[in-house]
Amino acid sequence: MPAFTDNVVIITGASEGIGRALALALAPQGPKLVVSARSRERLESLVQECRSLGAEAIAVATDVTDEKQCRELIRKAVAAFGRIDTLVANAGATMWTRLDELEQEGVLESVMAVNYFGAAYCTRAALPYLKQTSGRIVAVASVAGLTGVPERTGYSASKHAMVGFFDSLRIELADSGVTVTVIAPDFVVSQIHRRAIGADGQPLGESPMQESKIMTAEECASLMVRAMEKRKRLLITSLRGRVGRWFKLFAPGLIDRIASRAIRQRH
Ligand SMILES: NC(=O)c1ccc[n+]([C@@H]2O[C@H](COP(=O)([O-])OP(=O)(O)OC[C@H]3O[C@@H](n4cnc5c(N)ncnc54)[C@H](OP(=O)(O)O)[C@@H]3O)[C@@H](O)[C@H]2O)c1
Repeated sequence: MPAFTDNVVIITGASEGIGRALALALAPQGPKLVVSARSRERLESLVQECRSLGAEAIAVATDVTDEKQCRELIRKAVAAFGRIDTLVANAGATMWTRLDELEQEGVLESVMAVNYFGAAYCTRAALPYLKQTSGRIVAVASVAGLTGVPERTGYSASKHAMVGFFDSLRIELADSGVTVTVIAPDFVVSQIHRRAIGADGQPLGESPMQESKIMTAEECASLMVRAMEKRKRLLITSLRGRVGRWFKLFAPGLIDRIASRAIRQRH
């Protein structure tokens, strides 16, 4: 039987991009999906698509920056399906500006609130249920959580915070049967680049990425499903990310230059 048949899976940030693609990639296995984000309308259409592919699915509108709403998400998932097997903490937002050009206050806080606190709140609320099922926690961080990236100071910091949080939690959960998989995608085509907060505190509006040169959300989701099935500790989606992790130990300046070039070339 496929790993996620009847598995109760909560995915935050499921209305767009990687989260949406992950829901659609899991759906043919027949899971019980709880898809979550702020946009109820986009979630409802995703629910219909997931059902047509063989999943049971419900939508729960949640702003993950509000701990109460995260607790409510978990409560509704348990009320609907009786348990939680997998939590995918995926909701995220980014910035795109050098720190010395950032004019707007609150940007660093808002990125941290979604990426770090949102993931931490949902995980804390789901933990008692995940322990009952020897479940899976899947934290969608980034390669920017493993190394610094220019014009992404606040984002990289929030993803480093996530990696620290989930690496620590994995140790706490060592004897519980609950596993922690950290996902570190490289650039992926999604809405995040268009929605990235610029120097004036407003979304960029257009993606600055060379989208034909980066991974699709579907490709990323397919790698994630395999890593989740195997309860892998860490998935890095790109070769430069995987190799860079080791090179950073003895040639950190080289990795800084690669990160700088990736941002300049936008892929
Ligand atoms: N795309 C990349 O290049 C890339 C690379 C590395 C890591 N990642 C990570 O992958 C994850 C998914 O990002 P994506 O690229 O798929 O971006 P995306 O297309 O912009 O999707 C982000 C999702 O998060 C939700 N979201 C944003 N703020 C939220 C909030 N306050 N509460 C609840 N949901 C919220 C959005 O839905 P609503 O607006 O409806 O709430 C949306 O469903 C993020 O954690 C991101 O950091 C992405």
